[in-house]
Amino acid sequence: MTAETELTDLAAGIAREAGELALRRREEGVHLAATKSSLADIVTDADREVEALIRARLREARPGDGFLGEESDADAGVTGITWVVDPIDGTVNYAYGIPAYAVSIAAVRGEAVPGRWEALAAAVFAPAHDELFTAARGEGAWRGSVRLAVASATPAGALLATGFGYDPATHDGDIATVRRVMPMARDLRRAGAASLDLAYVAAGRLDGYFERGLKPWDFAAGALLVAEAGGVVTRVDTASARPLLIAAGPEVHARLAALLDEEA
Ligand code: IPD
Repeated sequence: MTAETELTDLAAGIAREAGELALRRREEGVHLAATKSSLADIVTDADREVEALIRARLREARPGDGFLGEESDADAGVTGITWVVDPIDGTVNYAYGIPAYAVSIAAVRGEAVPGRWEALAAAVFAPAHDELFTAARGEGAWRGSVRLAVASATPAGALLATGFGYDPATHDGDIATVRRVMPMARDLRRAGAASLDLAYVAAGRLDGYFERGLKPWDFAAGALLVAEAGGVVTRVDTASARPLLIAAGPEVHARLAALLDEEA
């Protein structure tokens, strides 16, 4: 077993336990704790409780590692490995009872800054679908015991997915991006959970995904899933200072990058 595989097994076990807690809390009824930067940017009591559980489990197993999560303070740690965690990615879906939400856990080495880290291990668990996606650096990506490979789609007629930023001031830009991409697309999905969009690209269920302004915890695990499934993931700083993440198989990625880089 490699060090990466051990980290992945740890992430997978914790993601399952955390996801089952989220699902139980969902069944008991969701309590909206607060609205953050805008009406769409919410946090529930379950987000906080699930993040606390993940943090405690990681501290028990690997006390020196760092932590970067959506709902609590960052900790740099001392080992050079940081856990990047979204306790419930797709919180709006979760709050409304739409099953497309997931626990997302990644272990990264280096600075806990996208582009300066090397992702080692990833687990994305969608409890309402009982689907666990995992990846270990150099060892591939998996859905349960099924090995994943990105679709070998060509750009014409690709099934794409995207997401929109929470800040209403960014909506015009996001809509312009969609307009630019639609002529090449078979159709477009906005499912509401970036980690699952990325897992679905890895699984070949989507041909590509793009979104501006994602936070590290939204994509750290999913990006490793796509890369380990043979896809290409890039994150470029745009003029609008909202980095553009593109994840897809090589041909679709090249076409999306050409279309969207012009706009950046
Ligand atoms: C959000 C979801 C959504 C994406 C947003 C993310 P959250 O994460 O992944 O699909 O469009 O950019 O912030 O807030 O539900 O954890």
